[in-house]
Amino acid sequence: MVKEVGMIGLGRMGMGMSQRLLKHKIRVVAYNRSSDKVNAIARKGAVGSSSVSDLISKLKSKRKVVWLMLPAGKVTDDMIKRLLKELGKGDIIINGANSLYKNAERHDKLCKQKGIVFFDIGVSGGTHGLKNGYTLMIGGNKKLFREIEPLCKALAPRKGYGYFGPAGSGHFVKSVHNIIEYVYLEGIAEGVELLDNFKHDIDLAKATEVWGPASVINSWLIDLTTKALRRKDFKKIKPDIGSVTIKELEETRKSVKGYAPAFGVAVKVRKDKSKKFTLGKRVIAAVRNEFGGHKVRK
Ligand SMILES: NC(=O)c1ccc[n+]([C@@H]2O[C@H](COP(=O)([O-])OP(=O)(O)OC[C@H]3O[C@@H](n4cnc5c(N)ncnc54)[C@H](OP(=O)(O)O)[C@@H]3O)[C@@H](O)[C@H]2O)c1
Repeated sequence: MVKEVGMIGLGRMGMGMSQRLLKHKIRVVAYNRSSDKVNAIARKGAVGSSSVSDLISKLKSKRKVVWLMLPAGKVTDDMIKRLLKELGKGDIIINGANSLYKNAERHDKLCKQKGIVFFDIGVSGGTHGLKNGYTLMIGGNKKLFREIEPLCKALAPRKGYGYFGPAGSGHFVKSVHNIIEYVYLEGIAEGVELLDNFKHDIDLAKATEVWGPASVINSWLIDLTTKALRRKDFKKIKPDIGSVTIKELEETRKSVKGYAPAFGVAVKVRKDKSKKFTLGKRVIAAVRNEFGGHKVRK
């Protein structure tokens, strides 16, 4: 069982995940395109590296494990191809990006040709994961999952990780999680707009706040909505929702011929650039900023 990992990508996710791994006594060798973040995590106890080759050379375990937290698509694809040239038989690549499950199947095939083991791990928890733990949805080789389980235990909250099946299963479960997230946020946004349309002045943040402790719709997203509505600059936030996963989530739904009308509406709203539903869209943008650090425009 491995007690060390090479982390590539020290953005909002990779940086927090590295810190949580270090806290749980996992040795982290880190690499990032911009070296300032490598220096920052090295100051917290990680082993910094100046290139992918340097990272691989600094991993000591018999079975090297490299975890990618990069944008899905070309950046991750290129990194996997690069790693395949440098890693050895039996080594492990984990992709934690939000990616279509079919990409994981493709990556798994490529890895298998080289005797390298691939896991797709969907990660949730956003910028709060460092403190609360990261939910992990895992796909890949079931037997070898044991090898990487110490990493999952360190990252996740109690009962917050699960193995779901062969390659692709982890990213599929994570995509469905994101589809639910779209629908939840759409529901909250519609509710806030309705409150705002009432003939009497309703304190929006007060409403979501009282829903927080015990109502049937209480949730972390409701709590974050209260926080977002109370931002001093809330009204300045542009109603632009910068989702990058829409295409991938739509493809996920189509691939299982899924009936998901609420998700369809949520997507339509996110794509809509008109002035309609401005408050609702602003709520979605602001709450995404609260949980994932996703940029808002002002
Ligand atoms: N934020 C969330 O709530 C969340 C939740 C779950 C999963 N994810 C997924 O996790 C992954 C990382 O997300 P994030 O929020 O951490 O993103 P982020 O903060 O934007 O960080 C992106 C990371 O990728 C690196 N990168 C970007 N373009 C690159 C390129 N062309 N070549 C090499 N490195 C490049 C960046 O390096 P630099 O520092 O040099 O720019 C940075 O380390 C994504 O796939 C995302 O979908 C995000």
